[in-house]
Amino acid sequence: MFEIVSTEELGPRIKRFEIKAPLVARKIKPGQFIMLRIDDNGERIPLTMVDHDAEAGTVTIIFEEVGKTTIQLGKLKTGDELLDFIGPLGAYHDMTGGEHGRVIGVGGGIGNAPLLPKVSEFHEQGLEVTGIIGARSKEILILEDEIKAACDTLHICTDDGSHGHHGFVSDVLKQLLDESTDYDFVLAIGPPIMMKVCRDLVKPYGVPCYVSLNTIMVDGTGMCGSCRVSVGDEVKFACVDGPEMRGEEIDFEEMMARQRRYVDEEQCALERYLKEVGE
Ligand SMILES: Cc1cc2nc3c(=O)[nH]c(=O)nc-3n(C[C@H](O)[C@H](O)[C@H](O)COP(=O)(O)OP(=O)(O)OC[C@H]3O[C@@H](n4cnc5c(N)ncnc54)[C@H](O)[C@@H]3O)c2cc1C
Ligand code: FES
Repeated sequence: MFEIVSTEELGPRIKRFEIKAPLVARKIKPGQFIMLRIDDNGERIPLTMVDHDAEAGTVTIIFEEVGKTTIQLGKLKTGDELLDFIGPLGAYHDMTGGEHGRVIGVGGGIGNAPLLPKVSEFHEQGLEVTGIIGARSKEILILEDEIKAACDTLHICTDDGSHGHHGFVSDVLKQLLDESTDYDFVLAIGPPIMMKVCRDLVKPYGVPCYVSLNTIMVDGTGMCGSCRVSVGDEVKFACVDGPEMRGEEIDFEEMMARQRRYVDEEQCALERYLKEVGE
């Protein structure tokens, strides 16, 4: 069993949990994820490692309550235990080694959580990091201070203009690339449509673009095929080849269609669960 050693509310329906998982904490790297199961009847869900402390044996996750399992998870308290907490999963990608020593990290919504360990690592590696983070509005923009600490420059965007630039992260990304293309790469993490827009935007500038794929996953170890994505002429599995990948050739339309495959079942599971707990 895996104890929840701390919980914190970061915004409406967004929580940060620290989990005691010494073996995972010892090995996990930025960009990798875990799969957890709350109890015997639960489904496995993938969540990205946001922070880890090998000495304390803890791994930090941040999640948004979007459906049955994440809502159930959000009801747990410090001292409660999870049945499974498996990791590290996914490939670790060392993206460094470019000629410019400058990179751009773009985060959208809950994607700011997986972005944090990446920009922190780039900063520790001595790269000049420009961050662009966004959310629908100020109250749901997470990790601003933490990401700012890892960036040389940070741009904030909100869809409703309640904080920073009034508009999308892609607006600021375009401005930056119009000024200079001397970047080793752009890393964009967020909803699939945001990653697709960033990928399409970056392509003509000739700067490499990485994304982190949040496909549906069942086993997380390359066996079930539920996370498969078309990348050019190849088929890749986001759980073992990714979740981070070069974005240029990814078929995002297909990926987004595959993500909607179980909407009815997801809705049904949520309704059944809410009835069970009397909500
Ligand atoms: C590698 C990876 C890392 C992730 N990291 C994070 C993270 O750090 N924080 C976070 O909040 N979310 C993260 N996600 C998404 C998270 O796994 C889903 O939100 C979660 O599985 C939803 O489960 P649910 O039962 O609460 O909702 P469901 O009822 O299952 O689904 C609600 C919505 O989430 C989408 N969804 C369902 N299952 C998955 C799945 N396995 N993967 C992706 N989307 C799904 C559905 O299309 C639907 O729109 C990550 C996903 C992947 C693949
Ligand atoms: S989640 Fe099953 S193959 Fe990737």
